[in-house]
This record gives sequence, C-alpha cells and structure tokens, in this order.
Amino acid sequence: MAINSGAVPALTPVHWFSHGSTMMLGEESDAATYWKKAGDEALANGIKGVVMMGAHWAGLNDKIMVATNPKPNMSPVAYVHPSKYTNYKLNPDLPTSRRCIQMLRDEGFDTDEDPKFDWIHDTYLVLIRMFPNGCPPTTLISMNARYDPHFHVRIGAALRPLRKEGYLIIGSGGAVHNLYRNVWQPMLKYRNNFAQETPPEAWALEFRQSVEDVVTQNSGPKLRRGLTRLMKHPQYRDAHATDDHYMAGLFVAGAVGDKEDEGVYGRLCAETWELTNMCNSQFTYGTYVAAKA
Ligand SMILES: [Fe+2]
Repeated sequence: MAINSGAVPALTPVHWFSHGSTMMLGEESDAATYWKKAGDEALANGIKGVVMMGAHWAGLNDKIMVATNPKPNMSPVAYVHPSKYTNYKLNPDLPTSRRCIQMLRDEGFDTDEDPKFDWIHDTYLVLIRMFPNGCPPTTLISMNARYDPHFHVRIGAALRPLRKEGYLIIGSGGAVHNLYRNVWQPMLKYRNNFAQETPPEAWALEFRQSVEDVVTQNSGPKLRRGLTRLMKHPQYRDAHATDDHYMAGLFVAGAVGDKEDEGVYGRLCAETWELTNMCNSQFTYGTYVAAKA
C-alpha cells in the first residue's frame, strides 16, 4: 500500500538508533531484534528509500557532505567475522543524494558530494540488521565537525519534507556513548560485550533517563529544544566524551520536530547495554498507521 494515499500529506516515522559497538553487528540483542522489526515494517509500507546520518563522518569548516560513491566499499569492523558483512550489497541512492544536496543548498548549507566515500559501520551495521535481505536505496548525509546542535537540527528540518514522499529518515548515533568510560576487560578477555560485572555507573543511568524523558515527553519544537538543552546536562560530558554520537539525535529532532509534528512523541522501542556503561537506546517517532491515515 502506498504511504501517501491520503489527502493530507502523510509522514513516515523517524528513527534515532544507538548503534553501539561493532559487536552489535556480530551478536544478537534486543536492539538488533528491533532493528529487524523496524526494517520489516519499512519494507511492508513501501518506503522509497533511506536517508541516514551516522556518527563517524563529518564535514570540515562549514561543510556538510553527501555520499555519492556509486560503488562504496565497507570500512572493516573489529571483532566481527567478515562473513557477517562483506557480502552485503550496499545500495547508494545517487538521484536522492543529489536531491538532498540541492535541498540542503536551498536552505543555505554549504553542501558537497563525496564521490569516494566508503561506508562505515555506523550506517551499514544498522542497514544490515534492518534489511538483511537487501539494502533499500540509501542516502548518507555527513555531520558537521563543529557539532553545533542547532545546525544539526536544521539539517534534519531541511530534509524533513522527504518524509512526505515516503523516505525513511534515520539517525544512527548513541544515547550514552563514551568509549573512554566503557568497561572493556570482558570484551578484551572474553569477547563478551554484554557482560555486566557491575551495574552501569550513576552518570550513565542518569543521562540515559534524561534522554528517555526528553524524547518521550516532548514533541514538535519542544523536542528540538529539549535535546539541544541536554548538551548542558551535568552528566552530558560523561555520557558523550565527544559530540559525534549525539548529533544523530539532533538531526532526527530536526526531521520530526516541526510544529506539524506536535503530538508525535518518541517511543523507547528497545534498549541494550554494552560494555557496562554504553546505553544503546532505540527510539522511534511516529507510525506507519498514522502515516496512512
Ligand atoms: Fe559509533
């Protein structure tokens, strides 16, 4: 069934996924189960393609980059057997990528294509998990290396109209993601990324709860303001030693934080803790049922 069959333009859901460590590709988890479910739903509802911002690629100075490599390679991932990803065929959507460049330029962004960019696990890990039987046409948008929250909200807002055409917008980052504060010993000794020899530390629990509260209790422009404000949370720097994995959440808030999105609240659909202190929360805003109404 077509998504946009109603008189009122329908809006596809938006995901803010926490991709966690590379082990999330190799090991089963609640998060991985949900990624597959979200992918199945997207295919069942006939999405036109995926437009995605990850957390491992940023444009310098004022730039945003869009991937236009017609045959991208995959950057290798640690601790995962190559059989779990090397045969997966990536599907870059060059027409939509070029369209996104124009949409971003029309909104005043200094945007360029990168015809040589190879995809990184922040995006293809999630695509493999969501769409194991084939990658939909996908557009990758970079972050900007100044990591300005308002700037990333505006990127999402600029691309939000694609939701009315049936594109699925995804931000792949992290809710609590500080590699310096993870407990790595069980991983290094036993290859166990899910070991919890001790509970997560208080700062991780506190920030994780604040993210959930903002995402599930705010909608429209308040969501944008709330997630932007969280960068001033007392535990923000503990939860994010670098800003890169938080930016995907702001991109998503731009895509689903318009006045028209008021009343659309995020839902915590799955969560997997890794390496003791890394919280891989999986949030979805909106539904296809609403999109078809
Ligand atoms: Fe990452």
